[in-house]
Amino acid sequence: MITIKSAREIETMRRSGKITSKTLGMLMRVARPGMTTLELDRLAEESIRSLGGIPTFVGYQGYPSTICASVNDEVVHGMPGPRVLRDGDLLSIDIGTTLDGYVSDSAVTIPIGNVSAAASRLMRVTQESLMLGIARMQAGNRLSDIGHTVQKHAESHGYGVVRELVGHGIGTKMHEEPQVPNYGPPGQGPSLRIGLVLAIEPMITEGGYQVRTLRDGWTVVTADGKLAAHFEHTIAITEDGPRILTLRDIGEHEDVERYRPKEEIAALNAPTGGVTLTR
Ligand code: MF3
Ligand code: CO
Repeated sequence: MITIKSAREIETMRRSGKITSKTLGMLMRVARPGMTTLELDRLAEESIRSLGGIPTFVGYQGYPSTICASVNDEVVHGMPGPRVLRDGDLLSIDIGTTLDGYVSDSAVTIPIGNVSAAASRLMRVTQESLMLGIARMQAGNRLSDIGHTVQKHAESHGYGVVRELVGHGIGTKMHEEPQVPNYGPPGQGPSLRIGLVLAIEPMITEGGYQVRTLRDGWTVVTADGKLAAHFEHTIAITEDGPRILTLRDIGEHEDVERYRPKEEIAALNAPTGGVTLTR
């Protein structure tokens, strides 16, 4: 069953999303060569809890950590541990927060130190794919329009679109209906409507789209060992179109300004009494 959220529930999800995005932003600022993925996990848990949230991933189907930290050919669900980040690594960080019973879920891929031009291009196109998918989240469009758009953009750059993992509805649970594939024909599936909240999360590969899971039971890697990138936002469909509930103040695509939550637009436009509001 697909659940429709009230404006009030979406407000709660935005408060949850702010904890997710603040924490993710902090991790993006501190991640550097020489750090371990476990150190990032500790910082993430501390941040979420200090902001009043609960790390959603801990205990999810037995998952032990606050974040997923997936490096290079690891696509998603890399488990934090003693691995030391090195200059040139591509790091995907995925994180979820529960606040007042509502979940928000977001991911980014970031460069550690200096990465190759090929890696930068993969990150850029994956983030663009996410933004183009979000742009399709308009009432009246069909669900498969999202994935179709993501796929078209990624494949037009010669990249692969992972099939085995998909985006999802989100609310009181991290994974709700519907599933949101990042591929497929347009014009299929349920009509999108106001109050629908989705986590859109393209996983894009430099080579083939095939993946396999390591023997730890979690880490998903590309079958051909090539790089992967992953970007994810939690987005609500509102009367004014899509609104990104996990909007960050760092490393966002410039198009996100169109998808800023309404109460923040109001706050940004309010008289400031000489105080400069930072975004
Ligand atoms: N963003 C991922 C997802 O939507 C996070 C799940 S990882 C887990 O599935 F550790 F919580 F399983
Ligand atoms: Co997700």
